[in-house]
Amino acid sequence: MELSTYEILLRNKLIFFATGNIHKFNEARRILAEYNIATAMIKVKTLELQDDNIENIARLSAIDAASKINLPVIVEDAGLFIDALNGFPGPYSSYVYRTIGKEGIIKLLEGVSSRKAYFKSVVAFCSPDGNVICFEGIIEGKIAMEPRGSSGFGFDPIFEPAEQPGETFGEMSIENKNRFSHRAKAVRKFAEWYRTQAPSTFIGVPN
Ligand code: IMP
Repeated sequence: MELSTYEILLRNKLIFFATGNIHKFNEARRILAEYNIATAMIKVKTLELQDDNIENIARLSAIDAASKINLPVIVEDAGLFIDALNGFPGPYSSYVYRTIGKEGIIKLLEGVSSRKAYFKSVVAFCSPDGNVICFEGIIEGKIAMEPRGSSGFGFDPIFEPAEQPGETFGEMSIENKNRFSHRAKAVRKFAEWYRTQAPSTFIGVPN
């Protein structure tokens, strides 16, 4: 296969992130920049499978996005897993956030002694020819007694990472959240792979 000048210049230095969430995009963009990978946000409606496993959701979504845009693309799916609720809301986090919200989670934990929880993120990469690979990141922590801070999004104000006890993600700058977060860990794993091991023909720049 003959590579165009664009392909040579952009090879493994550019990735399209299919998401409608600007916070996720900004978190990922900063990390990928550390690896000299530029990130373009692309809003494309992708299939969101209902599944107990967020890797399956991310994988299918990435395959669908790549087939629609014909470019190397990542999607990311994440969830909050609370020990005392047997992992709920997990893959249903988005629905739970939209319905009972963070205050609802605090209510569910009233009188419960263990507030242990973790966030999990799966970044799924798919090449235009349909090859998909997933990267996972987990951050352990606990659910705060009440929401604190206005940074970030979603459940950030009620999650205290174990590495920084007493401070919620909602009280942190993006830089600080990126030091620990589930998404940061998954994105870093992807970046390491993309800049070194991803087959160069994965890049498909339209004529
Ligand atoms: P999604 O399906 O990956 O968009 O994530 C599901 C839900 O989990 C979102 O609607 C958020 O409420 C929550 N969530 C995912 N990642 C984060 C995060 O980094 N901080 C706070 N909440 C998050």
